[in-house]
Amino acid sequence: MQTAQSLAQICGLPRLEARMLLEHVLQKSREWLLAHDTDPITPEQAASFLTLAAQRRQGTPMAYLVGVREFMGHQFEVSPDVLIPRPETELLVELVLNSCLGLSHPRVLDLGTGSGAVAISVALARPDAMVVASDQSAAALTVAQRNAQAQRARVQFWQGNWYEALPSEGQFDVIVSNPPYIAVSDVHLTQGDLRFEPRQALTEDADGLSALRIISAGAAAHLVPGGFLWLEHGFEQGAEVAAMLETAGFQQVQTFPDLAGLPRATGGTLRNL
Ligand SMILES: C[S@@+](CC[C@H](N)C(=O)[O-])C[C@H]1O[C@@H](n2cnc3c(N)ncnc32)[C@H](O)[C@@H]1O
Repeated sequence: MQTAQSLAQICGLPRLEARMLLEHVLQKSREWLLAHDTDPITPEQAASFLTLAAQRRQGTPMAYLVGVREFMGHQFEVSPDVLIPRPETELLVELVLNSCLGLSHPRVLDLGTGSGAVAISVALARPDAMVVASDQSAAALTVAQRNAQAQRARVQFWQGNWYEALPSEGQFDVIVSNPPYIAVSDVHLTQGDLRFEPRQALTEDADGLSALRIISAGAAAHLVPGGFLWLEHGFEQGAEVAAMLETAGFQQVQTFPDLAGLPRATGGTLRNL
């Protein structure tokens, strides 16, 4: 007879990870598991747990195994079709929400929405906002749409290459993006969780700046004068991104640090011409 306790002992995972997988397989809370960890579990449940434990030992990110990740206090479905939302990206949401202060019915565009984490968090915090989100990946958009539906967030989704996805030259108050910004030569692409995430979410197979260049250069055509652009980037890319924004017609360009104190997001407001 197998129990949650006996499986946790033999699976070769740290206790916390074994517990998270058991909660997922048994569909029970942490409290239930603590009180029932010596109850017998079915052979099917044991087999599912051991399969997931083997995948975890091989490096599959926990979020893909349990299918969810928390972001801005909301639970987002994630699958290998989308980047796992990172805590540092919450900074982007805060910058967008600050930029929307004082605006009623702000119009916000999230380019490269992935799981929808940024767009949906903005829409939930500002139910009066008109939020539009795009991605090149149809599979990612399917996940994002399910997340929006599950959380009753009002977001319009479009598929395509950056601004080309938009049906017309909409005028937005804020554009935000966390685009792929890892250089193709960066060894991190072959390490850790990144090995399992969609390649097109991580790198554009170039120098790490090409998506940031396209988004910066195209922003003016899609923003109202005085509108904001906020971009997440690598911690060594702040100065280059700030220079791109100034060239693209932005002023009051500023870079903000993430929770680890690393330069992570740069933005500014579009000059009035
Ligand atoms: C770093 S992920 C960000 C996902 C999500 N916004 C987040 O912060 O968790 C970048 C996203 O950009 C999308 N993407 C990559 N190239 C694109 C392109 N040319 N046009 C539109 N989206 C693109 C990827 O599919 C991916 O979902």
